[in-house]
Amino acid sequence: MAGKEHNLVMLGAPGAGKGTQAKMLSEELGIPHISTGDILRMAVAEGTELGQQAKGYMDRGELVPDELVIAIARERLAEPDCEDGFLLDGFPRTVPQAEALEEVLDELDREPLKVINLDVSEEELVRRLAGRRVCSECGEIYHIDYSDVEDGGVCPKPECNGEIEQRSDDRPEAIRERLRVYADQTEPLIDYYDERGLLAQISGEGPPEEIAERVLPAVRG
Ligand code: AP5
Repeated sequence: MAGKEHNLVMLGAPGAGKGTQAKMLSEELGIPHISTGDILRMAVAEGTELGQQAKGYMDRGELVPDELVIAIARERLAEPDCEDGFLLDGFPRTVPQAEALEEVLDELDREPLKVINLDVSEEELVRRLAGRRVCSECGEIYHIDYSDVEDGGVCPKPECNGEIEQRSDDRPEAIRERLRVYADQTEPLIDYYDERGLLAQISGEGPPEEIAERVLPAVRG
């Protein structure tokens, strides 16, 4: 598939804005947005076996075991809509996951990855996570400082009547654990991808639209 496919990874701490940027970028490039967090949350909501296995880890802010998420990613990347590219959000998160992703791309004979790391200060991460609210129906992400949403209220999207709620892992205790786990297990991937010449470092601070303007040239360049 010479040259044109965008095989992207969005890297960054919890609350760095991966989901927000990935949504805009996948629409702009016409490639699927694959969030392992969203896939796992859907499995939890549906009460599937995967969901039952993952729920405790997620609520505590810990990582779900590698073998479960690697299986999810492997299956999803083999689907036909990923043939022209994909945008991974929240995967890989450990070195074994990154190694498994390399293997999958080799097996599928794909172009190399481009990895975008969104860099955001810890103070801003905590502010974003504590103020995040999501729609239980459409999954839209809001922040209490930048929208009119309130807990138990209704999603402002015209066609949606979903309830506005807080993610169970956005409680202060779980936020602290997620940031600790990130520093311990995921941050090393910045060097991992930098050493392989695949990394673009982007400041994730400022309005989302400005960040998107920094991300796009890095992806296309
Ligand atoms: P996941 O859903 O991936 O959570 P995360 O990485 O902790 O990331 P978040 O979704 O919290 O943040 P984000 O960077 O997407 O930020 P967002 O755009 O929402 O994973 C959840 C759990 O699933 C994990 O803890 C783990 O248990 C499990 N899991 C998932 N993948 C796994 C894997 N590969 N291996 C093992 N376990 C896995 O923005 C956050 C807030 O900030 C929002 O309110 C938003 O409106 C606001 N905001 C965004 N951008 C800006 C901006 N520029 N300025 C101001 N506010 C902004």
